[in-house]
Amino acid sequence: MDVLITEPANSPHIDRLSERYEVVNNPELFKDPNALKQAIADARSVILRNQTKLTADVLGAATNLRGIGRLGVGLDNIDVTKASEDGIVVVAPLNANAVSVAELAMGLMLSLARKLAAADRDTKAGGWNRKTFTGFELDGKTLAVCGFGRIGRMVATRAKAFGMNIVAFDPFVKTDDPGLKELGATLTDSVAGAVGCADIITVHMPLTDETKHVFNADMFRSMKPGAAFINTSRGGVVCEKDLVAALESGHLAGAGLDVRESEPPGKPSALESMDQVIVLPHIGAFTKEAQDRTYAAVASDLDRILQGESAENFVNFDRPNR
Ligand code: 3PG
Repeated sequence: MDVLITEPANSPHIDRLSERYEVVNNPELFKDPNALKQAIADARSVILRNQTKLTADVLGAATNLRGIGRLGVGLDNIDVTKASEDGIVVVAPLNANAVSVAELAMGLMLSLARKLAAADRDTKAGGWNRKTFTGFELDGKTLAVCGFGRIGRMVATRAKAFGMNIVAFDPFVKTDDPGLKELGATLTDSVAGAVGCADIITVHMPLTDETKHVFNADMFRSMKPGAAFINTSRGGVVCEKDLVAALESGHLAGAGLDVRESEPPGKPSALESMDQVIVLPHIGAFTKEAQDRTYAAVASDLDRILQGESAENFVNFDRPNR
């Protein structure tokens, strides 16, 4: 088989691949690691989202695999080191959904500041409570951008246009980075340093061993009383039970969460019942534009790889080494 699809994925770009290659579309495969391991043994390439776990064990069985097409940018579900050792190209179109995620973070920011979701629910239920929904302005407030990569910078640029002051943390960014100067942003050398002075915190970090549960009880305690917390990156960077405690105590005024520690989260937690919390089903990349760009890039790169040509959106190397 040329292309194995292991999660829900539908697009004219995939249809065009199907016209040229043998494509097996099994949107439920990610749920069964054994079946995945069996199916991938025969695949020359694979297309997945963030739920399929391409562990070293699964990749070990993928002896025919040449390319992995990630329909997104998060790589926490792929053992990229093992893929590289095995000569498999990992394709992830890093710029395809950045604007959409940044715009969603701004949407959450505005919604939290003006209590839009709660006001909508209340008004639809027959209320007309203007004073209850008194919010605050973004203008003049400080935004901590945790993770100053592609998406973090886009959020910072948009927040700057709303009159916000930017504080950034990113261990890979240097103080002379021109992006900081352009935004008049301050770089801190720790997450705590950034969040401690912020009215709103927005997270744009990948999930790695180092970032898992960075946002825990201590980190929430170091935030300003009344701060709002936004996460559109990966749920695993947050210890959810500590976030619940910070919200229940009133130390944090609100949270906007597009991502969860477990997705879907299963039985509703306290977060679902809090009016000051907005929960979304990981839709940061779900705009027509971002999805089209993502599918187009992955489909065309897998086509190239299957033809023995070099890929364009690779994150390890441009052509298979096997
Ligand atoms: C990403 O990692 O780019 C986003 O989280 C979207 O990925 P997904 O389509 O796999 O959810």
